[in-house]
Amino acid sequence: MSEQWWKEAVIYQIYPRSFMDSNGDGIGDIKGIISKLDYLKELGIDVIWLSPVYQSPNDDNGYDISDYRNIMNEFGTMTDWERLLEEMHKRGLKLIMDLVVNHSSDEHAWFVESRKSKDNPYRDYYIWRDGKDGSEPNNWESCFSGSAWKYDETTDQYFLHLFSQKQPDLNWENPKLREEVYDMMKFWLDKGIDGFRMDVINFISKVNGLPDAEQPDGRQYAPGGDYFMNGPKIHDYLQEMHEKALSGYDVMTVGEMPGVNVEEAKLYTAEERKEVNMVFQFEHVDLDAGPGGKWDLRPMKMSALRDSFTKWQKGLEQEGWNSLYLNNHDQPRMVSRFANDKEYRVESAKMLATFLHTLKGTPYIYQGEELGMTNVKFDSIDDYQDIETLNMYREKVIGNGEDHDKVMESIYVKGRDNARTPIQWDDTEHGGFTTGEPWLKVNPNYKEINAKQAMADPDSVFHYYRKLIGLRKENPIMVYGSYDLIMPDHDQIYAYRRQYEGQTMIVMLNFSGDTPVFKLPADFESKGELLISNYDANAEEDIREVELRPYEARVYIMK
Ligand code: GLC
Ligand code: CA
Repeated sequence: MSEQWWKEAVIYQIYPRSFMDSNGDGIGDIKGIISKLDYLKELGIDVIWLSPVYQSPNDDNGYDISDYRNIMNEFGTMTDWERLLEEMHKRGLKLIMDLVVNHSSDEHAWFVESRKSKDNPYRDYYIWRDGKDGSEPNNWESCFSGSAWKYDETTDQYFLHLFSQKQPDLNWENPKLREEVYDMMKFWLDKGIDGFRMDVINFISKVNGLPDAEQPDGRQYAPGGDYFMNGPKIHDYLQEMHEKALSGYDVMTVGEMPGVNVEEAKLYTAEERKEVNMVFQFEHVDLDAGPGGKWDLRPMKMSALRDSFTKWQKGLEQEGWNSLYLNNHDQPRMVSRFANDKEYRVESAKMLATFLHTLKGTPYIYQGEELGMTNVKFDSIDDYQDIETLNMYREKVIGNGEDHDKVMESIYVKGRDNARTPIQWDDTEHGGFTTGEPWLKVNPNYKEINAKQAMADPDSVFHYYRKLIGLRKENPIMVYGSYDLIMPDHDQIYAYRRQYEGQTMIVMLNFSGDTPVFKLPADFESKGELLISNYDANAEEDIREVELRPYEARVYIMK
């Protein structure tokens, strides 16, 4: 397995709308990001993945792009963006941009043209079909509720939108569209960026003929998922994209791929196939969803989490590469979801961080994770902004008459706005994020949980991340070591051994508020050097048997 900078890097995701507002309009912006680069440098990260900053009417907060070559007015100007890149490179930080090319905005010039007439030169940039017996061309559903088709009167046809009605899907069958995308990618690559995060990139190839979907059983995605995820030409498209846009640049790529399994991920990430460097898979973030999908709540069981991670760790051990994440702008906050965001919030945040940074793969930190930020509960649905949440609420409560409280509960647990509340920089009004009214309310816990407090407290989650990131730089075993479970059947302890070039590392994680006992298998060396722990621990302790404290994490290098 080759050594690569992007395997050794720690990546930090910025959701710009919620990061830092520089001009008091309540919306995070590029100048705000620049003002916090020193903070990120101190944290020790290497790369920033910037969620979309392109021109957009913001139906889906920038994931609906109306101009791929310009910056959203609310975020600043191209000059601001160029300064951001320069200030980052000056500090040794790399920048990867979001590439959203499964769909554009319906306000993109291509779509404005496309919908004008059936013979418009841009018609085939999108996916248009006649209706079937007076209704939609097929039964596919949008990931954001309702049919995936919208009728357009002008030409008496429907267009496909796997996301919102303002996000028409681009037609990748059209070679002209593909060339436009590659040109646009080179436009950014030539400006000196260091890679792309590719939005739902395994949706770009749809099954031939767009047939009706059988109601898929137990799938976490919209009906029709099997027909547009990992479709027939997806590998051809990614290889072509590599050849025509990416080759020749020393950049990294990560493809967001809902519904991808290990075998497919190997094909996407095997080095010689030249598709993408790694994928964001979704298996572990679907474990707490029932047959009804993401809003159908189920408990998150540690054993299921461990089974899933183990499958991926072993599956991509020899070939391909894992990305590691526990939350992002689409997922709830990790402490609230996988551990305890109340009495053991700090211990939990550090334990999960230890987990993330001691697995094989590239770790991604989502903004605020380094502060142990938590989910939020707004009393009123009117305080929510996310289109996925609002569409679902409307469909279930207003459309189907489902119970308001039950739906709100699912929003508290799963809603995307949990992750999108503004970053809590200090304990002043609105957490220091803005001097105006924030576009989405700040989590009321900003008085205790904020960056100012965290930086001043040597025991904070922030400083623990800093230490972990530093350790990963000094210990290649954390990046490249093999992975094997210890105590594989325990209900509360998740433990594993990493091995690399004659060295052994042991990781003990207590995923509970109890005090279970870790037992080292008899054939292990019992003397270790304590690398990091989220509690005070005696570095000389005999670790054959260790009673772990609530949410305790320890990492040892064996002697
Ligand atoms: C991806 C993005 C999400 C967006 C969707 C449609 O899943 O991460 O935020 O809503 O694609 O672009
Ligand atoms: Ca602003």
